[in-house]
Amino acid sequence: MPSLLEQASRVLNNNWKETFTIPCEGLYPFQWNWDSGFIAIGWAHIDMDRAKSEVRSLLKGQWKNGFLPHIVFHNESKTYYPGPEVHAAHLSDQSPGIKTSGITQPPVLGFVLEELYHISEDKEDILSFIDTVYDAVFRNHHYFYTHRDPEEEGLVYICHNWEAGTDNTPVWDFIWETFEVPDYELDRKDTKLIDASHRPTNKEYQYYIHLIELFKQWRYDDAKIAQGSPFLVQDPLFNSMLIKSNESLITLGKRLGKKDKVAQLEEWQEKAIHSMNSKLYDESLQGYVYYDLRNSRKLSHLSSSSFTPLMAGIPSEKQAAAMVQHFQNGRFSGEQDENFLCASFDPSSEFFNSKKYWRGPIWINLNWIIYRGLKRYGYVELSEKIKEHTIHFMNTYGFYEYFEPSKALNNKLDKGYGGNNFSWSAALTIDLLTNKR
Ligand code: DGY
Repeated sequence: MPSLLEQASRVLNNNWKETFTIPCEGLYPFQWNWDSGFIAIGWAHIDMDRAKSEVRSLLKGQWKNGFLPHIVFHNESKTYYPGPEVHAAHLSDQSPGIKTSGITQPPVLGFVLEELYHISEDKEDILSFIDTVYDAVFRNHHYFYTHRDPEEEGLVYICHNWEAGTDNTPVWDFIWETFEVPDYELDRKDTKLIDASHRPTNKEYQYYIHLIELFKQWRYDDAKIAQGSPFLVQDPLFNSMLIKSNESLITLGKRLGKKDKVAQLEEWQEKAIHSMNSKLYDESLQGYVYYDLRNSRKLSHLSSSSFTPLMAGIPSEKQAAAMVQHFQNGRFSGEQDENFLCASFDPSSEFFNSKKYWRGPIWINLNWIIYRGLKRYGYVELSEKIKEHTIHFMNTYGFYEYFEPSKALNNKLDKGYGGNNFSWSAALTIDLLTNKR
């Protein structure tokens, strides 16, 4: 029986497509933005050339204004909807020569470069690679702070649930109830490939497609989107990833002698951290929540995203201590420790669904982010528990896309949820097993 590390490496090898890695055969047959970031971390441990190629391939999809799309369509495939013809990114005068989507995903690339730096045994070589891509990643941050922060608060907005990464978190239900959508004819493939009860509903997909149709009418013009999009949200996970990536670009920029860029990043960073704490931290819930810019209201719900600011060093020690309570005989762990960590949505909420995509199941990338965050604040024992639970899932069921949080229900299952042989589950397992940091 091959070791877990060997099994994980095999998943990445099988999903490798010449210059990049698909997240999952059939279900996600192109290159996805934040998937590729986590995948590059996995590759860095076993094949640094592939890690570099992963990053370079993603940047091929960068737009003229620095925007980095959530999907790059390097190849053709008939197994995914909505494909390039639905996104029609060519409608924008900013789009590149290659086919891409016109929405983005959490900006992980900055901190991924720093991970590559730490993992590499040849610091000179990796630093000269980072030098070749640094400016492109900086331009992406510049795009966010100049086009996606209309009130100049240091917090950027997302305009589509797919930009959040947490596609169907119950938080979006409160956005959907603010507008009506026509009945689009959908051509879903996902529900034919895996158990439809684990995926978003058709009604939700009507909203997803409607937003894209609006953006197309506006030729993906950011000013028009900021003015008219019914979905305009400051999301705690998205902003935490940007802040963590700012921090990494500052560290790497200093090594590379990029003085002006470092000064600009430091300016963004200070404002961003301040606004995260003054605007998105919810004292009564003890965690970071969402702000609906379109309807000027806080959406006070706890999800696994609420704890991701730990990785970026955003909370004070006191806030971190309060947040940790949720994982120790609390809301997320269950009072009697009934749950594996970390459910993607508040298990005590009426909207929690332990099987449905981002409405409750455990995701490995969020576990990895929270694990890193807890370590950063010195909660070593709790971080080790998250690592242990994560490895347990991989050993018991394999590299699935998401997992059941309830320990009791797990006893009745023989697999995880969603797609199998999922790249970031494998890549981050390699990191958890190998990384000394
Ligand atoms: C999907 O299709 O489910 C993706 O998460 C969106 O890109």
